[in-house]
Amino acid sequence: QRRIRIPHLQAMKEKGEKWAMLTAYDMYAAEIFDEAGIPVLLVGDSAGNNVYGFETTVPVTVDHLVPLVRAVTSAAKHAMVVADLPFGSYQASPQQALATATRFMKEGMAHAVKLEGGAAMVPEVELLVRAGIPVMGHIGFTPQSEHVLGGYRVQGRGDKADRLVEDALALERAGCFAVVMEMVPAPLAARVTEVLSIPTIGIGAGPECDAQVLVWQDMAGLRGGKAPRFVKKYADLRGTLGDAAKAYAADVASGAFPAPEQSFAE
Ligand code: KIV
Ligand code: NA
Repeated sequence: QRRIRIPHLQAMKEKGEKWAMLTAYDMYAAEIFDEAGIPVLLVGDSAGNNVYGFETTVPVTVDHLVPLVRAVTSAAKHAMVVADLPFGSYQASPQQALATATRFMKEGMAHAVKLEGGAAMVPEVELLVRAGIPVMGHIGFTPQSEHVLGGYRVQGRGDKADRLVEDALALERAGCFAVVMEMVPAPLAARVTEVLSIPTIGIGAGPECDAQVLVWQDMAGLRGGKAPRFVKKYADLRGTLGDAAKAYAADVASGAFPAPEQSFAE
């Protein structure tokens, strides 16, 4: 199978085939998800919360993400790899967005970038697409703006719905190849998916989106504590790894490890 590209995603929308996107921040996750057939991998600025130990995505910088993007693109043979543009690296001007996205394409060898925001981001999206950089949009709850939005809240309820549809349409017209919708009421996400001709990718946006995305550590149960409502846990990696560490430590303490088969003879 060849590299997944924009026309494949567009064809899946037209055929009504739903697909799954996952985040990835390192070589093994990229390799495993790529082999599992996940068509799009996102090196999210959620690396802030899932790799670097920050409470939000706000402190994440381009220098934090570029090496992770490079690791993922090097490991993924088939998946399209999308690099998130972090907070403060694109909002100042289309020129700033182009300079940042260019770093991700050259140094990270990304296949596309993602940025947060609706109609306000049209000039940035237009310049990137004109320069040859595919752009994924991200509307609804946008974590980089959580201090303005007042925390993790569902977006687009009530009379805010039309505005969200307008944002989605503006991104499509500007040239985005797909749009993420985060924490949007399911009926509104369904309406946007119907109105747009490009794929929609939901996270907390109901079942009618063309695709879904989850942070892999949430999906695989690596994260501790309470996960958001929109997460479904498909494994208990936290339990599995914790048990492995305890068993290893116990074997070392008892002298069971290393055994002769893990040791070298003279
Ligand atoms: O950074 C991220 O992981 C994201 C997805 C949740 C869409 O932006
Ligand atoms: Na993100």
